[in-house]
Amino acid sequence: MHFKVRAATKEDCKEISRMIMELAVYEKMPDQVKISHEELERDGFCQNPFFECLVAEVPEENKSTEGFTVVGYALYFYTYSTWKGRTVYLEDLYVMPEFRGNGFGKGLLCKVAEVGKKQQCVRLQLSVLDWNTPSRDFYAAKGAQDLTDSEGWHFIRFDGQHLDDLANEAPKD
Ligand SMILES: CC(C)(COP(=O)(O)OP(=O)(O)OC[C@H]1O[C@@H](n2cnc3c(N)ncnc32)[C@H](O)[C@@H]1OP(=O)(O)O)[C@@H](O)C(=O)NCCC(=O)NCCS
Repeated sequence: MHFKVRAATKEDCKEISRMIMELAVYEKMPDQVKISHEELERDGFCQNPFFECLVAEVPEENKSTEGFTVVGYALYFYTYSTWKGRTVYLEDLYVMPEFRGNGFGKGLLCKVAEVGKKQQCVRLQLSVLDWNTPSRDFYAAKGAQDLTDSEGWHFIRFDGQHLDDLANEAPKD
């Protein structure tokens, strides 16, 4: 099926927001999504964007059953490894169910790799839920290594009150 992968624009944020929710439903945590399309517009399309995003788009004649032409996305940003240097972090990769198995996911992933390489990144990193075997297999088939298996890393987060508490205990100047 014909599709193109292009950089997202501010005008795509409603579609990206829709697919963020679809991905969260797939990941069985839809109530965790608090982000609005306005926040995506603000954070991704400002002077120093917090993220970049690619979308997969099909021609009008191949639109989804619900009428969507933007049918997949890859949202990523840059991080830094003190061991290896520049890293591109893939936060989300998603293709709508009716378009899966047509190379869209691979197209998005490869494009993120290409963009990262242009920025001299030496790593493309991401997290995937333990039960998400199809996606784990998809990444493994493309040559990714599972760092939890091979190196034992855990994924750690501070948020809410715990983050507030930490910030409030910061040494004052
Ligand atoms: C993961 C996902 C993005 C893959 O997108 P897709 O468009 O279905 O995948 P593609 O058609 O591009 O597949 C590309 C390649 O991966 C292979 N592949 C796809 N799914 C696979 C699987 N479960 N196991 C092994 N290989 C797989 C395909 O055979 C194809 O191989 P090829 O390059 O040799 O032809 C898509 O299935 C998806 O959105 N899943 C739900 C959301 C999700 O889990 N996202 C990842 C969160 S971390």
